[in-house]
Amino acid sequence: MKQKSWITIAALSTSAALVLPATTLATDYRPAMLANPCAGCHGPDGDSPGSIPSLKGLSAEEIASGMKAFKKDRRKGTVMNRIAKGYSDEEIDLMAGYFSRTP
Ligand code: HEC
Repeated sequence: MKQKSWITIAALSTSAALVLPATTLATDYRPAMLANPCAGCHGPDGDSPGSIPSLKGLSAEEIASGMKAFKKDRRKGTVMNRIAKGYSDEEIDLMAGYFSRTP
């Protein structure tokens, strides 16, 4: 009986050791995936090369509130109103966080 419980403990700790690294290594790629189409106009990492405003240097709050204002037509743009309407508020927060973290 005593030996059986040791085997159970050994089996449990082995499976925990196999499961834990897999979950801690899991990366959330959603912010980068969501931010990808923005790079076409705003430049890689939000650093716009042309006349389109850069997202680089803006805080996550500034990007998210700008996007939400475009989405609700509280702010007028040429293209951003249509683009912003394609995203949920959660997706906007994720992509805003991504751009605010780019070096
Ligand atoms: C087709 C080109 C294009 C794409 C794609 C695009 N943008 Fe824009 N963005 C613009 C332009 C142009 C403006 C200036 C406002 C306007 O005319 O709509 C702008 C403005 C903004 C602003 C306001 C910046 C400021 O200085 O206040 C934010 C925030 C923004 N875009 C975020 C995004 C995000 C996030 C995405 C990806 C989902 C994105 N944009 C995709 C062209 C684009």
